[in-house]
Amino acid sequence: MTGLAGRQVTFGETDMADHLDRLGRAAPDLHACVDPVRARAWARTAGAEDFKDDFGADGAGGRGSSYIRAQARNLTARARGIHHLLSLVPARTDRRPAVVVDVLGGDGLVRRVADARGLTGLSVLTCDASPYMVRAAWAADCPALVQRADRLLMRDGSVDTVLVAYGSHHIAAEDRAELVHEAYRVLRPGGVLLLHDFLVGSPMETWFQDVVDPYSRTGHAFDHFTREELWGYLTKAGFESGEVTDMADPYVATAAAAREAELELGRYLLDMYGLAAIERRHAADAARHTVELARSIFRERRADGSVETFSAAYDPSDRTWTCTLPRTAVLAIGRKSP
Ligand SMILES: C[S@@+](CC[C@H](N)C(=O)[O-])C[C@H]1O[C@@H](n2cnc3c(N)ncnc32)[C@H](O)[C@@H]1O
Repeated sequence: MTGLAGRQVTFGETDMADHLDRLGRAAPDLHACVDPVRARAWARTAGAEDFKDDFGADGAGGRGSSYIRAQARNLTARARGIHHLLSLVPARTDRRPAVVVDVLGGDGLVRRVADARGLTGLSVLTCDASPYMVRAAWAADCPALVQRADRLLMRDGSVDTVLVAYGSHHIAAEDRAELVHEAYRVLRPGGVLLLHDFLVGSPMETWFQDVVDPYSRTGHAFDHFTREELWGYLTKAGFESGEVTDMADPYVATAAAAREAELELGRYLLDMYGLAAIERRHAADAARHTVELARSIFRERRADGSVETFSAAYDPSDRTWTCTLPRTAVLAIGRKSP
């Protein structure tokens, strides 16, 4: 894995043995998908790899704690996009829960949204290269595994869906083709890869370049994706069919008053992206400043020429206001032949 020097993760064979032992007790179906030989071999060298753990502990220069705080405070902020992704997981013919490997799983948000929305028929394994995030996932009762995106530790043909979402740009360009090859290897016949990110030139890229990179604790200089690049990965890895498509993936916050919901969105973005320099400069006004920045950036041009912008809607049935920042993600779907 490439990355800037420093902030290396400390994780070794004993840690992996502990995680696998715990996984075996908590989720035998997920444990059965892991190749113990691969897992032990990778864990032997993991500590020596140069991985910049942006989602690590504060004391190690990461922004993991504020990221986790954002998701705990607003579990539904990105639930619409997550729900859509999970709706694409193919059901199994044997009616057992479909195994979803959430490759950039963080502290288990995807699994927790699936539970909160009552999505059944899914068994989600939260994976992440950051041991800090994997520990947080376990603390939230999500079965989890330390694993690099481009070195999947699953057995050949063992899982139903490989989900790579909400951070694919963090995977270095030179590691992306290997990730998609690995996804093909571990999928069962009929399995699906869902590779989600944001396009070069999208409002999301502007947000990262103009706001997150200069103001966050960690900086954020990563390359986004093009449709051609995504399609190239699918075809080179051998996926028999697939597509590259768009999906709505807004940020949402709800509160009793419109202004409160709007400020909740600002608070969410401040914490999610660790915008420490905005907190310092704007203090009590930081959430308002952040949501105003976001409102000016997240403007989605539609095919008919119209522009979708920030909106606030009142729901009289539960007397709440919902504020929405529109966002469009790009999604590559690779299908392995049944
Ligand atoms: C933005 S977070 C997304 C977490 C969660 N899915 C969510 O939506 O809240 C991206 C995660 O990807 C992890 N990550 C970054 N590069 C990775 C890599 N090469 N392999 C595995 N995980 C990686 C980070 O440690 C981080 O926890």
